Amino acid sequence: MPLRPDQRIKLDDTDDKLFYDYPRFVTHVDEGFIQQLTDLYRDRLKPNTRILDMMSSWVSHLPKDISFAHVEGHGLNAEELARNPQLNHYFVQNLNENPQLPLLDQDFDAVLNCVSVQYLQYPEAVFSEIHRILKPGGVAIFSFSNRMFFQKAIQAWREGTEASRVELVKGYFSAVPGFTSPEVIARVSTLPNLLQWMGVTGGDPFYAVIAYRSN
Ligand SMILES: C[S@@+](CC[C@H](N)C(=O)[O-])C[C@H]1O[C@@H](n2cnc3c(N)ncnc32)[C@H](O)[C@@H]1O
Repeated sequence: MPLRPDQRIKLDDTDDKLFYDYPRFVTHVDEGFIQQLTDLYRDRLKPNTRILDMMSSWVSHLPKDISFAHVEGHGLNAEELARNPQLNHYFVQNLNENPQLPLLDQDFDAVLNCVSVQYLQYPEAVFSEIHRILKPGGVAIFSFSNRMFFQKAIQAWREGTEASRVELVKGYFSAVPGFTSPEVIARVSTLPNLLQWMGVTGGDPFYAVIAYRSN
């Protein structure tokens, strides 16, 4: 499954750190998407467990009514991460330069990645690291929509369809031995068909690809 070299190319191939040099205190998806994600987290994450929010910013979308043992944050902008009230600790690292996470083996119950997987040029290495740091039975949840910083997304994502992007993320999991068969949640629109037919847009589509460490 490894991506071909051309599929990893970004239109803007300058250092990702430059692009994320200034903080963006915005949300990258709409309220409907965020609500679905928080509900999914409430359903799959357990209290008093250890969470890694990878490629994070000033918001983690975690349910506020669940208390976790530790939430580790990772991203490219320290100012954003410092403002995130749900993180206990964070680190800054460019995963396209160095995919090795400075985290211990089997130390996390969950790894989360929200609307960011499209920026990974070496997803095979990153997913292998996710497997390494997860405890057996731990869960990885990748969520995404159809928005992106186009110039920073890899070609395989940019030139794909929403359906092919789901297959891509499933393939990232399947490429690493020791994950369960990935499960997909796809909620393309939250609006009734009639409104969609009338051209009313239904908000950001919600996709999540989920797998557990099996061994
Ligand atoms: C669209 S934002 C999403 C932020 C956050 N997960 C959220 O839900 O709002 C994309 C994030 O991916 C991270 N990112 C992009 N390229 C990266 C790279 N090469 N290495 C590490 N993180 C990167 C950035 O820190 C940025 O915050």
